[in-house]
Amino acid sequence: MKNFPTVLVTGASSGIGKAVALRYLKAGSVVGICGRNKEALEEIRLDHPKAYPLIFDTTDHAATVSAINQFIGEAGPLNLAILNAGNHKPTDARDFKLSAYKAILDINYFGTLNCLDAVIPAMQQQGSGTIAIVGSVAGYVGLPQAGAYCASKAAIMRLSETLRAELRPQNIDVKLISPGFVKTPLTDKNDFEMPFLMELDAATDRIIKGISGHQFETVFPRRLAWSLKFLATIPKSFYFRLTKKMLRDRPDAS
Ligand SMILES: NC(=O)c1ccc[n+]([C@@H]2O[C@H](COP(=O)([O-])OP(=O)(O)OC[C@H]3O[C@@H](n4cnc5c(N)ncnc54)[C@H](OP(=O)(O)O)[C@@H]3O)[C@@H](O)[C@H]2O)c1
Repeated sequence: MKNFPTVLVTGASSGIGKAVALRYLKAGSVVGICGRNKEALEEIRLDHPKAYPLIFDTTDHAATVSAINQFIGEAGPLNLAILNAGNHKPTDARDFKLSAYKAILDINYFGTLNCLDAVIPAMQQQGSGTIAIVGSVAGYVGLPQAGAYCASKAAIMRLSETLRAELRPQNIDVKLISPGFVKTPLTDKNDFEMPFLMELDAATDRIIKGISGHQFETVFPRRLAWSLKFLATIPKSFYFRLTKKMLRDRPDAS
């Protein structure tokens, strides 16, 4: 595993972010562990003195920039920022609720931009750094009842690609992490069968390896990624036949 002395992880209070933060803490890094759940973050700190809880909501621009700058001011140059905070709630155009769509975009996309507003200038000033952004294979194609989530992750993918091109000349490396289904508190809420569901520990191994490696995108499990990439390339008439079968009844449908 590549050594990063100072690491920031958003969404470190549970699931993927927590598991990844713990790996860097065990490797000896100082880690800014971010989230809204103060209790969960303080609990991590109890066993890991190098953990630095940062309590903020990534949708709050001022609070996000201030907390990240405070961490950098106290912990020193930021070597690695893992922008992972995110959420998923089903959305359904048969019962269109603008606020539900906006809430997902606010956390998954604009929340990431808020973090970048502190991370990019800091790394530019240092003259180096690595930014790993957590997207999802759901960004490859639009899936029924996940319109907001798929759109937010597609936006993360395109954003990461452009950041990689623009920031590489400034010695800032940008990486995209595209997980499939991973067993976390987020997916525990799903009431449908999740193909190729991965255990958190195995997913964490893949993420750490990807961040240490040279490739831009780390995507897993490959079988799910290939299936979705294939769906994105087939003629839309076939694609809509398949997505029609995926459409589930609304919970309130009789
Ligand atoms: N699990 C999967 O199958 C899967 C697959 C593909 C991609 N992903 C992506 O992986 C990331 C982590 O997901 P997970 O499965 O580990 O979910 P999780 O266990 O629910 O963790 C989500 C984390 O994000 C934080 N968070 C959410 N909204 C926030 C906000 N407004 N401000 C600050 N922090 C916020 C939460 O912290 P607080 O509650 O403390 O704020 C929590 O630590 C997400 O971006 C998700 O889209 C997950």
